[in-house]
Amino acid sequence: MPLLNWKDEYLLGIEALDFEHQDLFDCINQVYAQCSRKADYDTVADCLGRLHTRLAAHFALEENTMREMKNPHYAAHKAEHDRFLDEVTGAVAAFEGEFDHAQIDKLAHRVQEWIEGHITTFDRQLVERGH
Ligand SMILES: [Fe+2]
Ligand SMILES: [Fe+2]
Repeated sequence: MPLLNWKDEYLLGIEALDFEHQDLFDCINQVYAQCSRKADYDTVADCLGRLHTRLAAHFALEENTMREMKNPHYAAHKAEHDRFLDEVTGAVAAFEGEFDHAQIDKLAHRVQEWIEGHITTFDRQLVERGH
């Protein structure tokens, strides 16, 4: 069972962002799957590294899109991206000192909870009429 199941209600109608959201779901599911099968440090670190890189790249693309659209919620939305990326960066750095499947599982659930909430609120504002 994957941790996250994609639903069409997450679609924004902006192709590049929708593609990346689905890709992020895949990355989170891979972290979760490798963790569930108690994969070794290198394998899990690889998945976590990929998730972190894609998350950072996605935030950059989305912020660019918002600037182009002159989205009025840009500052608050970017601040939320920055805050969450800091949280993930801190968590990933912590695993370098202490590798613990239970903690990584906790992080996967945390990212799952955040991304579902974020796409349906902050990201949804990108396409709502009148913002
Ligand atoms: Fe966002
Ligand atoms: Fe997004």
